[in-house]
Amino acid sequence: MTTVAVIGCGRIANNAHFPALCSLEDVRIKYACDIIEEKALEQKEKHPQIENVITDYKIALNDPEVDAVWVLTPNYAHYTVTMDAIRAGKHVMCEKPITVNYPLSCEMAEEARKLGLMLNIGVCNRHHESVIRLKNSIEKGEFGNVYHVYCSFRAFRSIPGLGGPFTNKKQSGGGVLIDWGVHFFDLILYILGGAKLKNVTCDAYCEMAKDMKAYKTEYMWARDTSDIENGVNDVDDFITGYIRTDKASISFNGAWAQNVGKDEMFVDFLGDKGGARLEYGKLYEFWNGSDLSHAAPEYDIPNMYKREDKAFIDSISSGIKDANNIEYVLESAKLLQALYDSAETKKEISFE
Ligand SMILES: NC(=O)c1ccc[n+]([C@@H]2O[C@H](COP(=O)([O-])OP(=O)(O)OC[C@H]3O[C@@H](n4cnc5c(N)ncnc54)[C@H](O)[C@@H]3O)[C@@H](O)[C@H]2O)c1
Repeated sequence: MTTVAVIGCGRIANNAHFPALCSLEDVRIKYACDIIEEKALEQKEKHPQIENVITDYKIALNDPEVDAVWVLTPNYAHYTVTMDAIRAGKHVMCEKPITVNYPLSCEMAEEARKLGLMLNIGVCNRHHESVIRLKNSIEKGEFGNVYHVYCSFRAFRSIPGLGGPFTNKKQSGGGVLIDWGVHFFDLILYILGGAKLKNVTCDAYCEMAKDMKAYKTEYMWARDTSDIENGVNDVDDFITGYIRTDKASISFNGAWAQNVGKDEMFVDFLGDKGGARLEYGKLYEFWNGSDLSHAAPEYDIPNMYKREDKAFIDSISSGIKDANNIEYVLESAKLLQALYDSAETKKEISFE
């Protein structure tokens, strides 16, 4: 039996991790914690197996029965809550991005290393069926040499919680790149088999809601955290760039908002024998260059959050690091930092 505490009872807790944890055998949810008590109470009402509701996460950290905590707070709190939890001897599953920048991410990894605890990051696509299948197919040589990857994470009008923590660089670490790009780049580096960075160049724009009051949208994700009157919007709503690795090169465009009314969320893997388009979060299509055949396999996509949470719990008992362990996620955090640094300095960032 693994006894856990969930810290932060907002959207990702409600939509993904509470349902996942409640469906797993041998998991005891001793605490649901949120600084806004009603949010934790709401979860307890939905999931009666939650034993206690608290507003101070230190209560859970001081409880010797708690083995592991889920850090599901906004980005600005990932570092403090995770470091406190590790220092209290708890294994941690922290949502993506690791935190607001790369140096602090390295400190978190170092602390977990030092204390011999598992620290996983919620780069959930590593447990997505399509990502697993694509990775296997590339490893088997079905693509030949994968020389380039193109990705697009562009949407029409999807800036989340305008003026709130999502659009305040100090609190979020950035905009569309760190919020959506984190998933795309992490899955690309993972599928490519741990590609190492050579150099990157990037441009970032904050254009679509410079005047927050004039920004128009039909639907705003995380509207409850929006603060158009008094808040800040100083993050990237469009991002573009080019990355060289020791494996494939990568080009990309990402938009939280753009004046083109088509959402395009996909990754293309270009190999000399075959190529594929992965529709983000969905299935992929494969084109075979040797016989010009096309395959669009259909398969079930099991819940990736359940897989992710189970893999984390299993890694605690086996002592074997899972794919989401921070050690394997640092390279994509380093990439995000380099892209932001390149955009800020208007120069290429090199690791050679
Ligand atoms: N893996 C994914 O696909 C995915 C999807 C959405 C969000 N996320 C990540 O999950 C995190 C949370 O996002 P969200 O959309 O659920 O945000 P949210 O604002 O809906 O929820 C965060 C909750 O944390 C609480 N909180 C803040 N500080 C706290 C503290 N010190 N102690 C206890 N509770 C605290 C807030 O009151 C809030 O209820 C973010 O880092 C986000 O990037 C991941």
